[in-house]
Amino acid sequence: MAAPVPTPLAKLERIPPHIASVADYEELARQRLEPGIWAYLAGGAADERTLADNVAAFARYRLRSRVLADLSHGGTGLTLLGTRLSLPLLLAPVAFHKLFHPDGEAATALAAAAHAIPFVVSTQASTDLHSLARQAQGPLWFQLYIQHDRDFTLKLVRQAEAAGYAALVLTLDAPVNGLRNREQRTGFVMPPGIEAVNLRGMAPAPAATTLLGGPLLATAPTWQDLAWLRAQTRLPLLAKGIMHPDDARQALDHGIDGIVVSNHGGRILDGQPATIDVLAEIVAAVGGRAPVLLDGGIRRGTDILVALALGATAVLVGRPFAWGLAAAGALGVSHVIQLLRSELELAMALTGCADLAAISRSLLWNEGNAVKIA
Ligand code: FNR
Repeated sequence: MAAPVPTPLAKLERIPPHIASVADYEELARQRLEPGIWAYLAGGAADERTLADNVAAFARYRLRSRVLADLSHGGTGLTLLGTRLSLPLLLAPVAFHKLFHPDGEAATALAAAAHAIPFVVSTQASTDLHSLARQAQGPLWFQLYIQHDRDFTLKLVRQAEAAGYAALVLTLDAPVNGLRNREQRTGFVMPPGIEAVNLRGMAPAPAATTLLGGPLLATAPTWQDLAWLRAQTRLPLLAKGIMHPDDARQALDHGIDGIVVSNHGGRILDGQPATIDVLAEIVAAVGGRAPVLLDGGIRRGTDILVALALGATAVLVGRPFAWGLAAAGALGVSHVIQLLRSELELAMALTGCADLAAISRSLLWNEGNAVKIA
């Protein structure tokens, strides 16, 4: 028997036998995490309408099952901007994994590698981007903000390139922090020893007593900065946080290689629609010029199928893998991915889709006004 692969991780934990779905991990994570950290992970902006709608919107879609399709050959693999994925799923950038488990981002990277799917490492990771890349056995992408300190932004790009990150995901929807009332009510503060290590040495952001016309937004990025960044790197560059077809078109005109339809998991502007409800109009605007990804509210393999049917090339999950991380470290993240994989395969089989190319809008059943199929 082959010797077990050594991992940098402290220990592999056990998955409680009652866990049957991603939602079961949510409850387990809530029990494990201290209330302030739970509020940081679970919460959204203001009244959390967008957070709730991201999930609720998927429940309004209905699938048409098909019988007797030939499913003897097939699979869920794809190539996305040069990266090979075993599944149309990526782990979304989520800050500070060490809040959820002492193994932090290393555990997440191990699980993603085991499934051959990319892990998008946050700029605000609690682990150094170089050491993560040295240990990683699978594809890593890097999430970037255009920081008020443009030199520092460029330094991060160069570090990500040198460390072997395969793509950059530029998050555009958070020039200011969301109004996170749930966190405020718990009095959440970052515990000692956990910090955005990759931002060490960056000049502090200007204080934001006044927003419009104030110094913070005076340094916020504009389309010109996107053009500047595009010219700096040859890595595939994705724009994350696109919710308007005009922004999608403009991003493509600036040389962006991929679009991520996202409302930041409902954490920034409350009142935005669910991502799945705007996907189709953005896919139409992009018109096949670039892959369109989606995140927000994916909790089931059937949700992935709905997103793909509406034109997404792949989806990302944020909170679900963080629940797995909080519950059982790398093993929990891996199990969350496995649950989504099994559910997607099951849903594909029952809708007659042997592979991703077979998935189309025709598998959505038009229920009243819930799904407006053109
Ligand atoms: C995030 N998200 C996020 N996005 C980003 O671009 N950079 C970041 O550092 C973070 N940090 C972060 C922390 C936490 C705790 C959460 C829950 C989310 C947003 C994330 O990438 C993604 O858009 C959403 O999480 C997707 O929604 P779901 O899957 O959580 O419903």
